[in-house]
Amino acid sequence: MTEVEVEVASPYRVLVGSGLLERVAAMVAEPAVAVVSDTNVAPHYGTAAHRLLSEAGKRVKLVEVPAGEESKSLQMLGDVLRRLAQAGFGRDCAVLAIGGGVVSDLAGFAAASYLRGVAYYACPTSLLAMVDASVGGKTGVNLPEGKNLVGAFWQPRLVMADVATLATLPERQFREGAVELYKHGLLGEAKLLTALDDREFRRDGDAAILEEYVARSVAVKARVVADDEREQGGRAFLNLGHSLAHALEAVTGHRLSHGEAVAYGLLFSALLGKERGWHDFVGQARRLLTWLEPTPLPSLAFDDLMPYLLRDKKNSAAGQRFVLLEQEATPVLVDDVGEFEQRRAWERLLEVEA
Ligand code: GLY
Repeated sequence: MTEVEVEVASPYRVLVGSGLLERVAAMVAEPAVAVVSDTNVAPHYGTAAHRLLSEAGKRVKLVEVPAGEESKSLQMLGDVLRRLAQAGFGRDCAVLAIGGGVVSDLAGFAAASYLRGVAYYACPTSLLAMVDASVGGKTGVNLPEGKNLVGAFWQPRLVMADVATLATLPERQFREGAVELYKHGLLGEAKLLTALDDREFRRDGDAAILEEYVARSVAVKARVVADDEREQGGRAFLNLGHSLAHALEAVTGHRLSHGEAVAYGLLFSALLGKERGWHDFVGQARRLLTWLEPTPLPSLAFDDLMPYLLRDKKNSAAGQRFVLLEQEATPVLVDDVGEFEQRRAWERLLEVEA
């Protein structure tokens, strides 16, 4: 097992290893536990966690939500909160998320808001949730007006990333999670960039090797979050590739998944940086796309994307803001990327991807 410290105001550990879920009862201190999971994951791991926690003498309620992004809603949040209240849970309860990013965002926000905040634990079961969503305390739900518009920073007490759970993850989701792991490689952990060429980097690969990749990726995120818990500066570096990604997701009505869109977004960032003579990672971004085999880009003109790029959450009153790599593993926030530069990078992207 590998431990990664997340040194925020209330520090906590991320445990990465195989078989951690079997020890869940020893990890949760509170006497009452709401296990929040979804209809895909609960049959594999939610019910087993329920049994282990009950056998340890805790009062346990399994709160199952439908699998899918639709569960990240105010209505589902209300539903989860009501189920905690109906179970009579008090301040000494904990919310334990077992699942992917949707479950951890929803359960984390339920923990942040129930009785004005109770203990939160996360057992991520997707690669994306292990290396990204479960670490750093961003919790929340979507509004019809946009994704993640409501939420709270609420750090978990402990994260248990059991790499054995990756074996039951659909292959597509594994690959999409690998995009964020690769992004962490570009931000400052070169070993992660070798994952795509490693025969053991697969959802049912050698547990020790998966543990190492996941732990190294978590360590990058932990470092960034420790420097800027509330995203007032450097945490935005985690958005490398995400300006174009969010625009692509929105303009295609989410026909491109987040991971696919980020992979295209990383190539866009690489092309923008290369034009400036900065760190050239075009080859690495293309390697990622080849490995990922994403949904092909629909025919899109830059003018279709521009309105969405202008709405990016990182933008400030001064205008658009991009994350680029000035040098290897040296991200910077850049405010002066003009429309012409963006248009040219998009056209180059279409050429190299054709
Ligand atoms: N996923 C980006 C962040 O946690 O800041």
